Amino acid sequence: GTTLGASAAEKGRYFGAAVAAHRLSDSQYVTILDREFNSVVAENEMKWDATEPQQGVFTFGNGDRIVNHARSRGMSVRGHTLLWHAQQPGWAQNLSGGALRNAAINHVTRVASYYRGRIHSWDVVNEAFADGGNGARRDSNLQRTGNDWIDAAFRAARAADPGARLCYNDYNTDGINAKSTAVYNMVRDFKARGVPIDCVGFQSHLGTTLPGDYQANLQRFADLGVEVQITELDVAQGANQANIYAAVTRACLAVARCTGITVWGIRDSDSWRDDNPLLFDANGTRKPAYTATLDAL
Ligand code: XIL
Repeated sequence: GTTLGASAAEKGRYFGAAVAAHRLSDSQYVTILDREFNSVVAENEMKWDATEPQQGVFTFGNGDRIVNHARSRGMSVRGHTLLWHAQQPGWAQNLSGGALRNAAINHVTRVASYYRGRIHSWDVVNEAFADGGNGARRDSNLQRTGNDWIDAAFRAARAADPGARLCYNDYNTDGINAKSTAVYNMVRDFKARGVPIDCVGFQSHLGTTLPGDYQANLQRFADLGVEVQITELDVAQGANQANIYAAVTRACLAVARCTGITVWGIRDSDSWRDDNPLLFDANGTRKPAYTATLDAL
């Protein structure tokens, strides 16, 4: 193929980009989006603070702009994210205990129900594990409601949208390490206990090196019977950028249950990072990392 999306589709995968609703009026941005990608995810517009700014008051306008743009062009949509310790509305930050648990599960139910039938995969829970060597859960207001908050979130998401694939998503889980092993153990436990989980997202916010066991790590999760997806790929600019993009792409293609790759933005100027980590430069020109990725597909 001559584009990322078409080439990925030939291999039975999607190739997506994180999209910001406010950029959909930028014609250069939309031209690249529509040409190259066959999947989108909202960069911020489906997060808790965006979708439920006041308790019980839901706002889907910006999420809908992205979903409608994508679906009218045949692109699939990843949902990001139902529950996360960050980007919570102030009212939720001020809740705890049973009140927070109820509000969180209501949030999952309402948002997943609103988008029912339109979401390929939901990041039901994002970043619930701590960095470092002990494999512990991250401390958060949600975690303090009880260790079973993740089970409850996945069960509520399944009930609300039985057709969506339900993912757990995290970062610094790209190689085999204490954090990724803790996620692995949770997924294995969920499978054993019948907690509904279909996929694991590997954010893959990468620096100047790729863990040598990146593919092996994807494979061990796939061997648990879940799909794996690369969900927020970006790579520090530098001598290795193109090689790392290519290696990540090859790793996904080598794992049968790796169903797609999403990059976290389109042009370097669209990125949340300041180290030019994307596939197109600020002028919308394809970078060597783009060519390496396309060649790997
Ligand atoms: C980032 C967005 O790109 C920024 O615009 C926002 O200010 C902060 O969040 N992990 C995630 C994403 O799961 O939601 C984050 O997105 C990047 C890290």
